[in-house]
Amino acid sequence: MKNNRRYFLRLAGLLGAGIASLPLESLSLKTEKENPFNMERSSIGKGPRPFNMCGYRAPKIDTVRIGFVGLGNRGSAAVPRINHIDGISINGLCDIRPEKAQAALNSIKDSPYHPKLYSGTEDDYKAMCESNDIDVIYIATPWNLHVPIAVYAMNHGKHVCVEVGNAESIEQCWELVNASEKNKRHCIFLENCCYDFFELLTLNMARQGYFGDIVHGEGAYIHNNVESLFDKKARYKLWRLKENIKGSGNLYPTHGLGPICQIMNINRGDKLDFLVSMSSADFTMKGLEEEAYKKDPATFGSFLKDKFRGNMNTSIIKTFKGRTIMLQHDVSSLRVYTRIHLVSGTRGSALKYPLPGRIANSHLDWISEDEMKKVEDTYTLPIVRLLGEMAKKVGGHGGMDFLMDWRWIDCLRNGLPIDHDVYDAALWTSIGPLSKWSVAHKSASIDIPDFTRGNWKRNAPVDLSIDHKNLTPVKG
Ligand SMILES: NC(=O)c1ccc[n+]([C@@H]2O[C@H](COP(=O)([O-])OP(=O)(O)OC[C@H]3O[C@@H](n4cnc5c(N)ncnc54)[C@H](O)[C@@H]3O)[C@@H](O)[C@H]2O)c1
Repeated sequence: MKNNRRYFLRLAGLLGAGIASLPLESLSLKTEKENPFNMERSSIGKGPRPFNMCGYRAPKIDTVRIGFVGLGNRGSAAVPRINHIDGISINGLCDIRPEKAQAALNSIKDSPYHPKLYSGTEDDYKAMCESNDIDVIYIATPWNLHVPIAVYAMNHGKHVCVEVGNAESIEQCWELVNASEKNKRHCIFLENCCYDFFELLTLNMARQGYFGDIVHGEGAYIHNNVESLFDKKARYKLWRLKENIKGSGNLYPTHGLGPICQIMNINRGDKLDFLVSMSSADFTMKGLEEEAYKKDPATFGSFLKDKFRGNMNTSIIKTFKGRTIMLQHDVSSLRVYTRIHLVSGTRGSALKYPLPGRIANSHLDWISEDEMKKVEDTYTLPIVRLLGEMAKKVGGHGGMDFLMDWRWIDCLRNGLPIDHDVYDAALWTSIGPLSKWSVAHKSASIDIPDFTRGNWKRNAPVDLSIDHKNLTPVKG
């Protein structure tokens, strides 16, 4: 471990540069259009201006004490992964199913930590949120519990990490914002795709001006997962299948949207203005459900009366500065996996999928492999130079999960602003209910709430530099 610490300090000196922040242009707000959700700023009333959590530096926490809630597929992988990072203590493990809490404990049996187990009832997370030996609640439950647990935890003085998903309602997004501001507690949004290697490369290229002005971006979650959707053992009480009958829209917007928003400095110099959304009909899910029903009528009978969301949802978003974003979601068609990640600028473009990611600086062709190598040498971020190889070894979607976890832990330990805050969490997940509204209204346009309450004009862009002396060590 000592070696790791020395290694980090050395690299900190070498790699201090980070991303240069872009100067913010002066912008004027246009008049807000009427919004069907009528939620623009309305939930805060006319009291004093709420505290702006963007860029907030919370008091440093030397040892970040973590309690996990939701130890299914995702949470159970997070526990041993975070165990590779120093400067933490795993103090709580909570799952409604005791066997899941126990399995997570077994996965770190060689660690120095002795977490308390909270399990057996659906409210056990409350005791963990109330305990005095935890700083951060890490939430990896089904989507409908993200906000209630996060709000409860922040109201009890805890920072929260919230897994990706989509919001139940716009009102819930505001609840999250209000709780974070009121309690001055971070709501760290765990959008791991923002930390994937090509996404970080293109972020830095965009910041250094390689693409010129960013005009358009595209992102997606196109990932056929029908097998697991209809598999009773895959997730707790088939919760994700049930999400597919709650309305037609983009159910999983943030993997595609997060990295594009980061590149466009959304909430930090630009804002999402309005969207239109359209869904195809369902061509596969009902048939699959009928097959599942034949095999297991007791489980799938309840779905028979329901209509599934359409297979493909396409949303188009306009930003205040006039950029456009195309966002897609399809988990039930026979498509090869893609998150697209297209960045289109006045001087160049990037396209991640189909892999490998490519860069162009003319309309004729992508740059050659040799040129790509030079681009990587020039624009790879310090955090990737520092931790990329280790992240690949530890794994978690090829390493991005590890980079993400190291980063938020390092930010908390050093009192640094976090990369993806409550405004990003609220905004990116709000695309769920907003797209459903648009689809249900013949693709009518709908305004996107400004969760920053106008602070997007002043907030500084995400700064991923790691030029401090107290870099969080990792365990080999
Ligand atoms: N970022 C990624 O790449 C990624 C990948 C997979 C899943 N996810 C996200 O992770 C989250 C969890 O997904 P999953 O696939 O692990 O689902 P899962 O069903 O496997 O896990 C959810 C867990 O929550 C537990 N739970 C349910 N109600 C609870 C309660 N009241 N109190 C405590 N625990 C409770 C369940 O027992 C289960 O173990 C979702 O938000 C999902 O979108 C993210």
